[in-house]
Amino acid sequence: MKLWLKLMNQETTPTPKKRIFSGVQPTGNLTIGNYLGAIKNWTALQNDYECIYCVVNQHAITVRQDPAHLRRATYETLAVYLAAGLDPEKNTLFIQSHVPAHAELAWVLNCYTMFGELSRMTQFKDKSAKHADNINAGLFTYPVLMAADILLYQANLVPVGIDQKQHVELTRDIANRFNAIFPDTFTIPEPYLPRTGTKIASLQDPTKKMSKSDENENATVRILDDKDTIIRKFKRAVTDSDSVVRYGEEKPGISNLMTIYSCFTGKDFAEIEKEFDGKGYGDFKMAVGEACADALTPVRTRFQELMADKAYLESIAKAGAEHAAYIARKTLSKVYRKVGFVEFKA
Ligand code: TRP
Repeated sequence: MKLWLKLMNQETTPTPKKRIFSGVQPTGNLTIGNYLGAIKNWTALQNDYECIYCVVNQHAITVRQDPAHLRRATYETLAVYLAAGLDPEKNTLFIQSHVPAHAELAWVLNCYTMFGELSRMTQFKDKSAKHADNINAGLFTYPVLMAADILLYQANLVPVGIDQKQHVELTRDIANRFNAIFPDTFTIPEPYLPRTGTKIASLQDPTKKMSKSDENENATVRILDDKDTIIRKFKRAVTDSDSVVRYGEEKPGISNLMTIYSCFTGKDFAEIEKEFDGKGYGDFKMAVGEACADALTPVRTRFQELMADKAYLESIAKAGAEHAAYIARKTLSKVYRKVGFVEFKA
């Protein structure tokens, strides 16, 4: 090759892609909050970033789970990743317990995380209030396992909902503390919050987050709900006594529906206000229901196909875990060396 051509090629060598890591707990029955706040946005990242997404089944057992249910929910979460459009050729998709380095690094990081820091985590406080009969040590050290998830892959960005931002900030603190003692060990990650749809609220109490575990079925729209169910839930959504479709703090119910409608249609709030100018809430709710149901129909169909093909899901999980384990091993060996663990000589 001619020298000038070589130089030109060197100059156009692309800089390595930034790495993204995130995870979803397999606690079943994902809602449109999980879909719009997380998984749907991830599909837009798959070309520009190196993306790694994990089904965090080890986090799930910090609250009691039925084993059969957990097993099924783990495959379901993987199937939702795929059905939502994450291409397994472009993204690494895997199950946390398949890569032992997560638990191994979590132990080391436990020794670099302070009791006081963990006590201040709002999710820990909320969950211990909710599960007062089972405030186990895993619930307390949950954020350390999450830090291990992220730091093992030297992730630059961590897409999460606003409720997980505090955990990513703790991850940064742990990484900085470790790096101050053992330089150049971890990449410091940043939380990556989506623009809209970060926080989809309950349809029955729009001041609360839409939660997978809400006891009132009308409060949540599930990714796998059928069209009739979706429309019925939107028709029953709690709004206010006014009748103007307008975005504003004093109208949390309508604002939430506008956010959902905006996420599914790509229209902004001004366009939506204009579209429903002079029309009542009934028309608006119907339109939101239709937009949501239409967008989710292909996802549900693909999900059902995937759930019927266990062998395929297993092959995706296996390939994902092999690739993840390769990256994770490198970080873990470095950490083991730095803290002074002697090498295992076979
Ligand atoms: N704690 C996150 C949640 O409940 C799930 C999670 C576990 C996660 N490990 C992670 C998210 C690592 C991002 C990165 O939503």
